[in-house]
Amino acid sequence: MKIILIGFMGSGKTSVGRSLAKKLNINFIEMDEEILHRSGFNNMKTLFAQKGEVFLREWEIQLAKEFSSLSNLVISTGGGVVMNSIIFEYLKKGDHNVVYLQAPYESHVRRVSKDKTPRPLFDNIENANKLYKFRLPLYENYSDLAIQTEDKSISEIVDEIIIKTYGNISKN
Ligand code: S3P
Repeated sequence: MKIILIGFMGSGKTSVGRSLAKKLNINFIEMDEEILHRSGFNNMKTLFAQKGEVFLREWEIQLAKEFSSLSNLVISTGGGVVMNSIIFEYLKKGDHNVVYLQAPYESHVRRVSKDKTPRPLFDNIENANKLYKFRLPLYENYSDLAIQTEDKSISEIVDEIIIKTYGNISKN
């Protein structure tokens, strides 16, 4: 089983993914970290400034292709993977569950402002809001399961994903 977490910036994909993989005792891949590591950039702000957004999108396709044959892992995606349908053709190969972490826009703003991770596409709150509205139907369309994250702890979200993916917690 490959569990793929999707959602807008600040939806908690990385924290939930790390904790989920730990609880299931399977590997965890954070796509942004992997891309920064492989391309040699320190953060997304520098990557965007020097190479542009298309460079990131090409890396995302490349990684999705590589991960298509893997199983027993949790993948935390970048918020923009829904911009390329080909990514899901790769990610959805084999036994998978694409989980959408949902939250109201205000929660994303709150979480992103507390987080030090540079997010060039969240520099302008109004533009980010337009992007959020544009992407909502895409997250819904590509996901197999949607989890409402508002007012829930990471461990509550993790347990909900496990129960809805496998039917119960104890067997994992
Ligand atoms: C992006 C989301 C970021 C990162 C990049 C672009 C997006 O990942 O991939 O800054 O297009 O939504 P997170 O969703 O992990 O912040």
